[in-house]
Amino acid sequence: MGIIDGKMVASQIKGNIADEIKILEQKTGKIPGLAVVLVGDDPASAVYIRNKNKTCKKLGFQSFENILPENTSELTLLNLIDTLNNNDRVNGILVQLPLPSHISSNKILEAIDPKKDVDGFHLENVGRLVTGNATFKPCTPAGIIQLLDHYEVNIDGKNAVVLGRSNIVGKPIFFLLMERNATVTICHSHTKNLSTITQSADILIAAIGKPNFVTKDMVKNGAVVIDVGINRVGDKLVGDVDFQPVLNKVNLITPVPGGVGPMTIAMLMLNTLQAFKNFISLKI
Ligand code: GUN
Repeated sequence: MGIIDGKMVASQIKGNIADEIKILEQKTGKIPGLAVVLVGDDPASAVYIRNKNKTCKKLGFQSFENILPENTSELTLLNLIDTLNNNDRVNGILVQLPLPSHISSNKILEAIDPKKDVDGFHLENVGRLVTGNATFKPCTPAGIIQLLDHYEVNIDGKNAVVLGRSNIVGKPIFFLLMERNATVTICHSHTKNLSTITQSADILIAAIGKPNFVTKDMVKNGAVVIDVGINRVGDKLVGDVDFQPVLNKVNLITPVPGGVGPMTIAMLMLNTLQAFKNFISLKI
């Protein structure tokens, strides 16, 4: 049994990114830019956005922060995205989800230039992911694969079970695991006999947003458990997995915080660096 140190892996990746940015800046006189857009004042989203900006500055990215009030109209947001699409100093655009209910997320995500869609949520990028040709892999799923690789978890031929079917985590991780030759099962709120399925998992990924939902009886001995949940319980952050009891049964597990979370930001930075490199190679 062991605890996966996502903070450490993310910090290695971020160190490499910072080094590469310095070299590219010397060569081109330019640095990559990331625009983050937050509509409304959801406290969790505000924390994520603050972390993204902080990481940008630390690694040598230019960050463009756009915080708009809850009552922002869809048209105003579409106009902002158009401006960011046309700004050459902005290489990546991230619109923090969820958006207020009067704004169509689909419409907004489709308005982002696919070349700047560092979240990988535009339909063009989703299509690339599904067909095994991803340019930008969604950050949390990409971070999970990097963690499994770092800890030398063999994915090929393994039973992987994913709890949750969101566009942000469940669906994209399904394709990334299948691409690596896992047999993948997605479970969700309508799944029958859930425990029987999770007990068959060599790799179990929980992304449902329910505190301590995965208990030790649901997990196979020696499994690898990846906890994507970030749930606030009182003043504590807990994952979707009942950590201590499950830890005693499994081979590897990610903690919350300090597991998948830091990897998501590292992958966002990696995608933005990639968008920048694509942009400067177009210009040269
Ligand atoms: N909300 C929760 N996770 C994410 C993410 O990875 N990207 C964006 N844009 N919003 C999110």
